[in-house]
Amino acid sequence: MMTSSGLIIEHAAAKINLALHVTGQRGDGYHLLDSLVVFTVFGDSVRCAPSHSDQLTIDGPLANDVPIDHTNSMVQARAFLRDMFTGFDCPPVALHLTKNLPSAAGIGGGSADAAATLRALARHWALPLDLLDDSDLATKLGADVPMCLRQEPLIASGIGERLDGVQTPLAEIHLVLVNCGDAVSTPAIFRALTHKNNAPLPPMPEVQNLQGLIDYLKTTRNDLQPPALAFSVSIHQSLKALETKDALYCQMSGSGATCFGIFQSMKQADIAARAIQQQHPTWFCVATQSLA
Ligand code: C5P
Repeated sequence: MMTSSGLIIEHAAAKINLALHVTGQRGDGYHLLDSLVVFTVFGDSVRCAPSHSDQLTIDGPLANDVPIDHTNSMVQARAFLRDMFTGFDCPPVALHLTKNLPSAAGIGGGSADAAATLRALARHWALPLDLLDDSDLATKLGADVPMCLRQEPLIASGIGERLDGVQTPLAEIHLVLVNCGDAVSTPAIFRALTHKNNAPLPPMPEVQNLQGLIDYLKTTRNDLQPPALAFSVSIHQSLKALETKDALYCQMSGSGATCFGIFQSMKQADIAARAIQQQHPTWFCVATQSLA
């Protein structure tokens, strides 16, 4: 969205790995993945506006978890664009982040913010974003950045940068996201993985309805869950909480610790999220739906 004052607002959706198979490891250490991902209505919000100097400001319920220096993924995305498009006019810009997503949580927070910054700045500076190479984006800004740029149901392979649309369009999925608060380091989880050469995703059939999707997901895994459980035993508790609230399917996303449950309707997701939040007031818990 662009307002009359030149302010650009971009949604930075949470990324949910409905399934994540680790299928190998590249010579440079990155792991090969096969993952079905969707994105959610719930997420962060990134704003960009003309300014006399480069700025970054952050607000929102989880603002305190985000660095404001050169390690911030939005600052890195801004610098990356200036490096890539040296012949273009990229004047100073004020970036603002409203942080709703937990950090180091397996739902792509930093990558989603970087991708939203790329989209916002590409519009602000009139840059041809499609000239960027997904492998470069993945290794320089984050393996999840190319998928977060697209924000639609995808099968991701390679290290996460090879993207294919899902054959049968997935309808909106009603989700509850639960995170017990343990920050989980993605590199540490990958390092702790004992089996790196696992079977790829089974081919995805034509999914006609929610039950078809659930039946398919039951044939898949998240290979990062066993090592993540060794770092955060609370992941068990999150999964148990979703199960007892009648989730049709639940699993951990990414390298954790966020877990998701799929529910029959938004109403049931809302009821489950409220009950889990009441039982665990310190947890992050939210009902949302996927971007179809
Ligand atoms: O997603 P991001 O690039 O931030 O990942 C952080 C780290 O996780 C990488 O530097 C790498 O150690 C590990 N990783 C991996 N294989 C992937 C994605 C991430 O080994 N496909």
